[in-house]
Amino acid sequence: EKGGWSSFMAKEVAEEPEAVANTILGRVKDGQVVIPELDGMDELFAGVQRIIIVACGTASYAGQVGKYAIEQWARIPVDVELAHEFRYRDPIVGPETLVVSISQSGETMDTLMAVKEAARLGAKTLSICNTQGATIPRESDAIVYTHAGPEVAVASTKAFVAQITALYLLALHVGRIRGTVSPAEAARSIHELEALPEKIRWILENEQEHIEQLAHWMADTRSVLFLGRHVGFPIALEGALKLKELSYIHAEGFAAGELKHGPIALIEPGQPVFVMVPSPRGAATLHAKVVSNIEEIRARGARVIAIAEEGDVAVLPFADEVLRIPLAGPIFEPILAVVPLHIFAMGLANAKGLDVDQPRNLAKSVTVE
Ligand code: F6R
Repeated sequence: EKGGWSSFMAKEVAEEPEAVANTILGRVKDGQVVIPELDGMDELFAGVQRIIIVACGTASYAGQVGKYAIEQWARIPVDVELAHEFRYRDPIVGPETLVVSISQSGETMDTLMAVKEAARLGAKTLSICNTQGATIPRESDAIVYTHAGPEVAVASTKAFVAQITALYLLALHVGRIRGTVSPAEAARSIHELEALPEKIRWILENEQEHIEQLAHWMADTRSVLFLGRHVGFPIALEGALKLKELSYIHAEGFAAGELKHGPIALIEPGQPVFVMVPSPRGAATLHAKVVSNIEEIRARGARVIAIAEEGDVAVLPFADEVLRIPLAGPIFEPILAVVPLHIFAMGLANAKGLDVDQPRNLAKSVTVE
């Protein structure tokens, strides 16, 4: 089953390019996104006033990335909620609300119960799911499957990039229906999206060894921090979750802008900090602000590992390590930036001799509340 791979996780990280490509397949027509599974829902998308995304763990981080794309292209306000929190707080939901659930397994009990609660309150429900015929899609009004293929390792990797891809497609599909994204911008975005699999492949071919080496050097590390801003923030959270679940060390993700509101107190000499550097081709202020965050933590002795676009020289004077990702532009960057973090978490667990496919205390699908 593992083929020649040392673990399912190694195989599944290597399959990230196909997970993205297969999720796009059949959903682009004449330069526009058209999702055949959502035929007949145009009226609903035209009228919906609010979207609530419900999910757990890694899937919720995909949702947080998706929020940016949906708000940008479809201009619908989006809230992202942990499914277990949504269900127990008497949410204000009605027929004008679309509740989008995200689940690799389609069996996560917390997410299923949130979907049922949303339906009971009169909302329409849409499931983004990787497992054909699972319970959550069966309980939903509409389904958009991710086509990442079966994911066996407990830690979600290729399903995560496929979930973000599906959310981008959904955002462009709904934006077309609502007329909130111009055909030119949609075409440009689809072009970027379709280029992602090749760019992920570039990371696997050119950076994987470097990242594994780094993980090896860091095998004794006790704590790692992750900083990101905008779409890089949920990626920082994902990097921290992967590291704690696979290598059992303390890891925490922060919004880079929060540093001075507390977390900078954690910085002491030698503290490793991964920083997601926003694309310099996006908002210049965002890029400059994160570079100045890097200067601030570096001045306090942090060991900075920057994840930055190829050609971004601004980070060089302050970073101890730079992990390169190809140019993709601001919205698309997360699908690339997460790949080094998946490789790093796996590499560190391997360096510690741990079982990367089956971390302690965890189950692949959490079918209890
Ligand atoms: C982390 C991880 C979990 C799952 C979460 C939701 O690597 O795998 O956080 O993302 O348990 O699972 P699904 O997507 O099956 O609902």
